[in-house]
Formats: sequence, C-alpha cells, structure tokens
Amino acid sequence: MIHNQADYAREDDEVHEPLLSEKDETTVDVREASPLPDDLTRDELTLPAPSEPEIARHYTRLSQMNWAIDSGPYPLGSCTMKYNPKFTEDVAADPNAAIHPDRSARSAQGNLELQYRLQEYLGDIGGMDAVTLQPPAGAAGEFTGIAVAKAYHEHHGNDRSEVVIPASAHGTNFATAAMAGYDVVELPSGDDGRVDVEALEAAVGDDTAALMLTNPNTVGLFERDITEIAEIVHDAGGLLYYDGANLNALLGRGRPGDMGFDVMHYNVHKTFATPHGGGGPGAGPVGVVDELAEFLPAPRIREAEEGSGYEPFEPANTIGKVHGFGGNWLVLVKTYAYIARLGDEGLADAAAKAVLNANYLAERIDLDVPYGPFHHEFAATAGDRDAADVAKRMLDFGVHPPTTKWPEMVPEAMLTEPTEIEGQSSLDDLAEAFNLAYADTEEALDAAPNRTAASRIDQVSAARDPRLSWQALDGE
Ligand SMILES: Cc1ncc(COP(=O)(O)O)c(C=O)c1O
Repeated sequence: MIHNQADYAREDDEVHEPLLSEKDETTVDVREASPLPDDLTRDELTLPAPSEPEIARHYTRLSQMNWAIDSGPYPLGSCTMKYNPKFTEDVAADPNAAIHPDRSARSAQGNLELQYRLQEYLGDIGGMDAVTLQPPAGAAGEFTGIAVAKAYHEHHGNDRSEVVIPASAHGTNFATAAMAGYDVVELPSGDDGRVDVEALEAAVGDDTAALMLTNPNTVGLFERDITEIAEIVHDAGGLLYYDGANLNALLGRGRPGDMGFDVMHYNVHKTFATPHGGGGPGAGPVGVVDELAEFLPAPRIREAEEGSGYEPFEPANTIGKVHGFGGNWLVLVKTYAYIARLGDEGLADAAAKAVLNANYLAERIDLDVPYGPFHHEFAATAGDRDAADVAKRMLDFGVHPPTTKWPEMVPEAMLTEPTEIEGQSSLDDLAEAFNLAYADTEEALDAAPNRTAASRIDQVSAARDPRLSWQALDGE
C-alpha cells in the first residue's frame, strides 16, 4: 500500500457527510436582527447553527472526499494538473492587488503595468507579436483565437468555411470551430501518430480558414513536419492555430511563433501553475502575429506617451469583449508571479523536467506505450484490460489515475502526464500503482475503488444533469 487519501467507512457505496443544516438549526427573528425596512425582510429565517469545531471538521472532511493535487500525484494527461505554488497565492492575496476594475487608469498604474508586462512575457514565450489577457480559460482562448482568425478573413474578403482539426485533438477544438460557425474537417493521424502530411495536403484548400494543432500533440509526440505543415496551410491562404495546452513541453526551448503559428492560446494553469478553471476563475490569454493584432479583444494595455505610464486601448478592428474588464485579474497576477520567479532558465528547466518525468515513468510501468519518442505525456495502453477499471483500482493505491480511453488512436488509452512537479519517489509510487492495478484480478478491478469516499459515480448523469447546489439535493 502506498498511502491512503482517506480511509472512510462507506455505506451503500457512499460516504454521507450531512449538510450543516442537517446537524443543528436555529431560527432567527429577522425583523429584530435586520436594519432593513420590514417590507424587504421575511419574518424569520432558519439557519444552520454548528459550533466552530463542527464547521472546521465539516469542511475538512468535505475536502478529503475529493482528490487534490495538494494531497497526491494527479497525472491527468492533456488536462495537466500542476501544483499551484503558495507564493503565487500570497502575491494575489496582497491587499494592493485587489483593486476595483473601474478605477481610473491614472490611479491603477501598478495593475496596468503588470498586465502590460505579462502581455510582453507571454508574447516572448510564444513568439507572438500581440497578446490579450481577457479570455477566462483555455477553451475560451481557443474560441477567441478562432473568432480573431475569422474577423481577419472577413476583413480581407476571404470567404472561408472550414477549420481542419486532427482526429487526436482535444474536444474543445471541435467545439470551438463549430461555435465560431465553421464546418469541421477531421484529419486522420498518420501511422506514427502525427499529422499525415499527404492527408493534410488533400484536406486544405480555398475553403480552409485555419488548421488547429497542438505541438507536442495529445500523445506527447512532437510534430516534426511542422514547418512543412505551416507552409501547406499558408500556401492555401489559411491560418495556423496553436492550442497551447502542451506548451509546458516547449517552454524556453521552442516557440509556436517560430514554427509558423499565427495565433495561439496559453492555458496558464497547465503552463504556469495557476489554479485550473474547473468552472471557477481561470485564464486563457491569446497571442497573435502582427497581421491579426488589430482584431484582438479590447482592452489591451500599452505604454502611454513617454513618461506617463500605461493605458488601456481598443485595437482598431476589435472583435469586442470576451470577458469583463481585463479578464480574471488575480489568476493573471499568479501567472505573472510564476513567470517572474522562474525566469528564462527556470521555465526551460520546468519543460525539461516535465519531459524527463514522463519518460522516467513510462520506463517504469509494465503497460505498453505504442508511440514515441514522446515529450511531456504518453499514452500507455491497458491492452485487454479495461482502462477505466485499471484507473479506478489505482485510486485504491493512493494516487489519482491518468486520463482514460482518450485519444482513441490508442486502444484502452491511459494518457499520463506527471508534470515537472513530481519527484522521483512520487513517480515510483505512481509506477507501483500502475503496475499493481494492471496486474490485479478482474474481481478486484470490477469492485474498485474501495478506499474512496464514493465508489463508481454515474459519470454521464454527472456531466449531463449536474446538481451544483445543496438546494438541488435538498429537493430529493
Ligand atoms: C489539448 C487541450 N486543449 C484545450 C483544452 C481546454 O483548456 P481549458 O481546460 O483551460 O478550457 C484542454 C484541456 O484540458 C486540452 O487538454
């Protein structure tokens, strides 16, 4: 046994943590307690009345019922779960960081300078000429980037209706293109798991608005033909979009702009260790080459006339806003703090360790890894075992499992990305969990997980019919 996240006694396959209101309630006379006029208040209100220790224990127990990167390795391929260094939280928690977004530019110079510098950092890292910080997640960055590409084509009178996307791409790429009003042309992968250049040549033409690509791709393979790919797309009059989800493999070593990409998003949680969105605040800045800069969302930040600091401005043919104000400000503060602390060498070192860790782990597991050489992530195959069952069993050995059954080019895929944050002993724990689960009996796999707060959840209902408030539960 490696270590246990939590050792719960489960009943009916579920640990029940009562709502605070189920523990103890008190009724307050609202009229007495509230300074508001009577016609704006109800007569009385029933509120939970737990003691402080009960509250502390309630929330601690709830936090232990879920998996967290702070409690163990979390090698979700493609999703890239990185530990969020606490110093970035400290910087974002500085009271000086929390200023009202409606403050005048003159009184918010520090804030504007940070945004300006972050635009510059990201531009340098990606090899892009102009950056917007506004989109609130990677997927929102994709949508913004493709909307910018569309605005560019329309501005130049190019009537183009298709976006080409490799079959191995993330689902958000297909959703982005469709939501932006494009027809999706799916590109099959070549035998080596990369873009099939001949198939690409056949797929692009006068209708191609863009090719969306991530490099290294979703099984960690570097697209070695990227220069030729860029040429093919550009010769057809299309643009090359870079899905920045895998940029942590390239940091300080290669730049999408230098490979021929015209527009890209940055998943700051995957690359610069800010918290993952998951429905909460995230950020997905977008970078573009000069020709596309005039279409970026407003506001962007620039240096004002010499000596007078920084100012927001609206690009000439902006697509408008994709989020309020400058985006999710405190996430951007964390991004900035992370980049500034690591510096050029630290970022390049993070990329090297991400690649080294993936390769070390792949060597230590008993499962086959069909494609290679890979970079920061790899897709092992569970072969004749069910990848989801192996994954559930891994939870019993004290680690979070990898992404399963995707991409489909690898049968029973276990897409694994340890990231640069894990040390050798934690990689060894992961390898042991992989190997124990993979070698286990069918009965053990069927019954897993046994040592988690909930057993197998109904994932389809969780996705299609989510109940996100206690009131929804209460109504049952
Ligand atoms: C390859 C790829 N592209 C795009 C995204 C979307 O990013 P976000 O989760 O920030 O919306 C993901 C997310 O996991 C991804 O793995």
